[in-house]
Amino acid sequence: MTSRLPGFFRLGVAERRLRLLEATKLPAARLAAIDAGGLPLEAADGMIENVVGTYALPFAVAVNFTIDDVDVLVPMAIEEPSVVAAASNAARMTRPAGFTTQSSDPVMIGQIQVTNVDDVDAGAAALRGAADELVADAARLVPKLAARGGGPRALEVRVLARPPGPDGGVLVAHLHVDCRDAMGANLVNTLCEALADRVARISGGRAGLRILSNLTDERAITVRCRVDDSALGQDRATGEEVRAAIASASRFAELDPYRAATHNKGIMNGVDAVLVATGQDWRAVEAGAHAFAAKSGAYRPLATWREDDGALLGELVMPLAVGTVGGALHGHPAAQLALELAGVDHADRLAAVAAAAGLATNLAALRALATEGIQRGHMALHARGLARAAGATGDLVDRVAAELSGCGDVKPDRAREILARLKESP
Ligand code: MEV
Repeated sequence: MTSRLPGFFRLGVAERRLRLLEATKLPAARLAAIDAGGLPLEAADGMIENVVGTYALPFAVAVNFTIDDVDVLVPMAIEEPSVVAAASNAARMTRPAGFTTQSSDPVMIGQIQVTNVDDVDAGAAALRGAADELVADAARLVPKLAARGGGPRALEVRVLARPPGPDGGVLVAHLHVDCRDAMGANLVNTLCEALADRVARISGGRAGLRILSNLTDERAITVRCRVDDSALGQDRATGEEVRAAIASASRFAELDPYRAATHNKGIMNGVDAVLVATGQDWRAVEAGAHAFAAKSGAYRPLATWREDDGALLGELVMPLAVGTVGGALHGHPAAQLALELAGVDHADRLAAVAAAAGLATNLAALRALATEGIQRGHMALHARGLARAAGATGDLVDRVAAELSGCGDVKPDRAREILARLKESP
């Protein structure tokens, strides 16, 4: 399958769906999952409480992605214009090599807090002495996970506070669990709750919270790409100039947390759109990403860009806890379809796709910011959207959009006016 679908963005929705079916060889009936009402009300009612309806978002595929030598159509659900186009354009710039990724083992951390420990050093030592036994006991509680090659791996102890203090001596035990293809929140929370009383008894304190940590820095992914100058140039700037400007923008984010926050937002545009489309807990990934970005004590960019011999090298490192088994949303028809469209059958691959989308949206944002700014492209896309919403089809979309952008009044009323006039005197 190729992810190169030239002119995809110019097609109408119906034609795009046909191209998508052609490219993926999926049966047409599968697309019912992303029709209006694709999530049945009864299914929604079973997911959360007090349901009174469902809430829809646009569902798109970004094109041009090659990730670890395999072409992939990247499913994205997002309300923000430009993100899908930005991801697709940036992915084209990275071709033919595309994105390469490396994942750590899918290890999540569960925390068991112990308070009121009189002697934290003795408590920590006792707990470290019992760690192997506790890990073995925890493993017996999750035989199916062990059969899939995962399971509890280690128990680590950290001293957080010494007495006196409002909570006395405080320890935390970290249970490291390889969750394989599950995101793992339920697994880890179950294990922490099961071990908590023993952990407290062994360390001589009182059991406090038992819950996974969203700072999943042991479940991290690295994604890299290389973009040659020939792909970076724009109307008014050479590839070499754009390369230097993007590297400078990266250094700006490395120097300044105010800029790093926005730089990282541009990454999360791509990551979150994939996570929402595939039914993941994107709040968990957001929390982990920003905690990871600040782990050194200063808030840092998750991705950096360096110049290298006529090319730009991008690298994104971030924790990305996702799952392709378990979890409430995996019964969601659109999420299932999204995984299928992307050819994703395990969690590492899903993390790779989300991270590559994040590096792509970061590249596109920096390239636009470093050259003409983001507003021109953004308004051009917005104008096309308004032209379509006004009822333009075929070549009228481009003509209405061009006039709209040209007059600077990019509004729905003006789009309808222009379309009516062009239809009257074509
Ligand atoms: C807007 O959604 C994202 C950007 O602000 C990211 C950035 O500034 O790098 C364009």
